[in-house]
Formats: sequence, structure tokens, C-alpha cells
Amino acid sequence: MCGIVGYIGKQQAYPILIKGLQRLEYRGYDSAGIALIHDGKLNVYKAKGKVADLVQFASQKDISGNIGIAHTRWATHGEPNLVNAHPHYSQSEELAIIHNGIIENYALLKEGLIKEGYTFHSETDTEVLVQLIEYVKKSNGVDLTSAVQLALNQVIGAYAICVIEKSFPDVIVAARKGSPLVVGIGIDEFFLASDATPIVEYTDQVVYVGDEEIVTLQRGKSIEIKTIANVQKTPEIKKLEMTISQLEKGGYPHFMIKEIFEQPKTLSDSMRGRVSIDEKSIKLSGFIDNKEKFLNAKRIIITACGTSWHAGLIGKYAFEEFARIPVEVEYSSEFRYRNPVINEQDLVIPISQSGETADTLAAVELAKSKGAFIFGICNVVGASIPRMTHSGCYTHAGPEIGVASTKAFTAQVTVLLMLALLIGKEKGTITNAFYEKCVEELANIPNKIKRILEQNETISQFAKTFTYAQNFIYLGRGYNFPVALEGALKLKEISYIHAEGYPAAEMKHGPIALISQEMPVVVIATKAGMYEKVVSNIQEIKARKGKIISIVTEGDVVVKNLSDYSISIPDTEECFVPLLAAIPLQLMAYHIAVVKGCNVDQPRNLAKSVTVE
Ligand code: G6P
Repeated sequence: MCGIVGYIGKQQAYPILIKGLQRLEYRGYDSAGIALIHDGKLNVYKAKGKVADLVQFASQKDISGNIGIAHTRWATHGEPNLVNAHPHYSQSEELAIIHNGIIENYALLKEGLIKEGYTFHSETDTEVLVQLIEYVKKSNGVDLTSAVQLALNQVIGAYAICVIEKSFPDVIVAARKGSPLVVGIGIDEFFLASDATPIVEYTDQVVYVGDEEIVTLQRGKSIEIKTIANVQKTPEIKKLEMTISQLEKGGYPHFMIKEIFEQPKTLSDSMRGRVSIDEKSIKLSGFIDNKEKFLNAKRIIITACGTSWHAGLIGKYAFEEFARIPVEVEYSSEFRYRNPVINEQDLVIPISQSGETADTLAAVELAKSKGAFIFGICNVVGASIPRMTHSGCYTHAGPEIGVASTKAFTAQVTVLLMLALLIGKEKGTITNAFYEKCVEELANIPNKIKRILEQNETISQFAKTFTYAQNFIYLGRGYNFPVALEGALKLKEISYIHAEGYPAAEMKHGPIALISQEMPVVVIATKAGMYEKVVSNIQEIKARKGKIISIVTEGDVVVKNLSDYSISIPDTEECFVPLLAAIPLQLMAYHIAVVKGCNVDQPRNLAKSVTVE
């Protein structure tokens, strides 16, 4: 994963780079480092741990310079220590590089370089790359851009890189393949980053670097782009639609709780211009432009990872129920490698918050190569996946900084439900009356979420009771089964408590053996959706003295009386319950993690954007 930042211009680079790293820390926080050119010196400073550790280390150093590159690492090759931290010097210490991605043929390249007399200090693939660039540069007598180009022609793998050269303090060369890279264009200055968040406060003019493109940013010149195959490209400058306030905590102690509380707004944003109460209709331009593809699809394949996969599973229930199209929900990492049967009548829907997840990107490539129509559901505008799809729909949840996904999940579910209802309406597989009722109800969901958020304090109180727990079980049926999976994932991601989500009735085929008075069991037992059946499942847990935490519909007394703790959510159509039931589970996971003293925004070993497979 890793986050990369670069700056060249008239300002001091250090504060810009550090602030940029802090914005990108969600991408990895094993180590951080910076390289600055000043007064004929190429200074590299690194620290194990977080950006704050780097700041402390660099406080005693010369941090001057108006050109620099910086990196926050999520370790792939080599343990997270100081030696493996980026930037990496080349042999002569003339060049410094930062890298996000994986060079797959690094071992072979390294062998060749060792034979040429190169020595290596780290275990990283990145150091191999910078040595290779230096070797190519010296042996061909070319400039940095050409050296990068020639070197990358020998490389197999994924990368976003930035390279600087001690003797040429007026140039940064960057390139990408598979990993994201954005250039910000200011007045007499350039910014580079893994996403637009480090750039937004300086300029709204950006260029999303394309795959296999090399960018040269030279003081006093315009941005130059060419491909690895040496074809000149005209930069496409786009306007950023992002504000700084979206990137700040706005008075909340953590991004995660801010993002949970933003959901009434983010859901309204997802529906804005799409759901019309007056016309009782849903409009999605990606659907209108490709109507036949949707109506004629023989099958839908949803491909995603993590939380996005859970959203996809809810999509399956909705597409099958409303549009009567068979749906498969695939883990992108499995799908891409198991030679799946895909054909031109398939509609493939990748779902990704970041739009950069390497496995989902590869799944899209595969499905596209087999002729399927690809309709992406992504949050980050301009990311790699939406750029690779035939059409799609942005979720418009705004930047999600907390590593554990919350608002992006509910926005994904909202988009999937809109799409399923729309196809159902057009195909005539749902009645107009039901469609209109759902449109109206969808518009009510943000207010219903507000009512659930009012219970935050109550949830934070009872969450304290459960910090002792080593394990949790989450149960739900129908549309609530994926919610149970997502609830369990949230808890384990941020509190490090082992949690499993299960279809409630499956419990008796295994997990019931785990139930004792020590075991908290979270049951989603709302009125809409197999209520009586779930009540029976609760009885089974109760009989074995499990601790029951239930999510019930307002006014419910039966389940409430059977539960140790219960949280009420407003009644709604069955398909919309996940949008409501997810909220208390997010809050519960958050509060348990906070009481346990965990870093909720940056849980250990995780990263938000998984650009390695
Ligand atoms: C990581 C994140 C999860 C996310 C998953 C898929 O594991 O920590 O929050 O759900 O990647 O990411 P995507 O950006 O493709 O939705």
C-alpha cells in the first residue's frame, strides 16, 4: 500500500511533505521517511513507526529544500525497520526513490546488479529499482527520465515511484503502473501524491497519471508525460472536487466516529440528483446510458474485497429479489486466479471504496478481457477502477479516512439498492407501487439514521461491558446476514477481538458449541425479515446462557425481553434494514475499541487502500 508525496516549487518542501504524509497515513504506518535536496546535498531521514516519529527525528536535522519526496510504508518486502524504510538511495547516493507497489522480478534484477558490483543494504524490492535506474543511467549516459523509462521496461510488477537526483535539484521524475499517482499543478510548483488529499489545500488542478506513464516535473516548465513505451502524452488537467474540511476531524476525537456520524449526509449525497421524491423515481446516468446491458444481463458478477464484498452480498439479495437476475458475489482475489467462466452477457460490478484495490483491479481486467460489461461502484473519483470500467456510479460518500470502512459501506449499499430497484422497475419484475414506495422510503433513510445516532451514548455505555470478551458472534438472516458479517469485521479490525458473522440458522451447525455465558452474541432481529425464525435462534442462545445484544425494530418487546442489551432502529422496508442495522454495529465496535485503548483510525497491520495482492 504505502503513501507517497512529492513537491517541487518555491516553498519549503518539508512542511508540505509531512502534512501530505499525515493525510496518507491511512495507507500504511510501519515507517516513514523523507528525502530533500538542499545546497548540493541529498538528505534522507527515516523513522520506524509513524509520521510523528519521523517529525521528531527530523527536528534535529537540516530540513531545508524546495524539492523533496516522502513516504509512509506498509511493509511488503522486508520487515518494518529503519533500513527497509523509504526513501532508498542508489549506490552512489546520487538518486533517492520512494515506491508504492511490488516489483515481482526484483530477485532476478538484484542478482544481475550484484554481478555489476552493486551492494544492497535493505531487503526491499525498492532498493533494487533505484539501483537499476542508476545502473541504466550510467551505462547509457541518459537523463533521469530516460533512465526511469529504460529501467521500467525491465520491471514486472506494480509501482508508483518518485525519483530525485542530487545534481539536478530542479526535477522530479515519477511513474506508475497499478499503484495510484496524482500530480497537483500550482503556480510554478508541482505536487505529487498517492491520492489528492495532500494536494487539495494548494491547488485544485490535478492530473491523474495513467498506467505505464512517466511524468517529468521540472521547475519553470510544464508537466511532461510519456509512456514507458516512449509515446508522448498530452496531460489531461482535471478540477478537484474535494474540500479541506472533508479531510479534518471537525471536532470529533477520531475520523471513524466522524464518518459514522456523517452517514445521514453521505447517504443524502449518494442519492442527490438520483432519487426524486416528486417524480417518485430513481435516475442513474450509468444505467440510462447502458440500459440494454442491464436488461439483457443473464448474470451479474459482483467482485470486491473486505467491507465492499459485504456490500456486494447485500446487492445480491436485492438484484435477485427485484431484478430476478442471478448474482454471484466473488472475492476479487479468488476470482482473478481461478479461471472463472465469464462471457459477453455477464454484467460485472466491481465495488471498491478506494478504487485502487489491486485484486479488484485485476478482476476487472480479467472480466473486461473476456468481453463482460463492467459497471463500477467506487467512492474515490478518478481512481484506477472507475477509469478502467465501461460505466459506473460513484458513491459520493466523500473522503473516508478511518481505515475501518463505515460511510463508504452504507453508500455502496445505497447505490446497489437504487440500481436493483431501477432494473426491477424497468424489467417489470417489481410493481410500480412497490418501486414508488421504496423510492419514498429510501429518501427517509438519512433521517432514520439520525434517530439511531441519538443512541450513541447508550451504546458507548454498554460497550464498556464487553471489553473483557475474547470472541463475539454476530447473527443475521436474509439481508441482515451480510450486516452480521460486516459487524463482526468492524469489531475485529479495530478492537482485535475475534468475531465471526454467521447466518443465524447456521449457528446450530457449529458456532453453537462456542456459546457459554462468556460469549456475547449480537443478533439482528428486526421485524422486517424472518423475525420469528430469528426469535427461535435467540431462544437457542438463551438456553445456553449466551449474552444477547440485539438490534430490534422500535416497539419490539419480545426480543428486547430476551436480550441483555438491545438497540432499537426504526422500521423500514426489508431491503433497507442493512442501512440502519449497520449503524449501531459500527458504533458498538468503535466504542469497544476506544475503551480498550486501540488506535481506531489506524488499526495495527491494516491499511485502507490495499494496492498489493
Ligand atoms: C482494506 C480496507 C477495508 C476495505 C478493503 C477493500 O482491507 O481496510 O476497509 O473494505 O480493503 O477496499 P476497497 O477500497 O476496494 O473497498
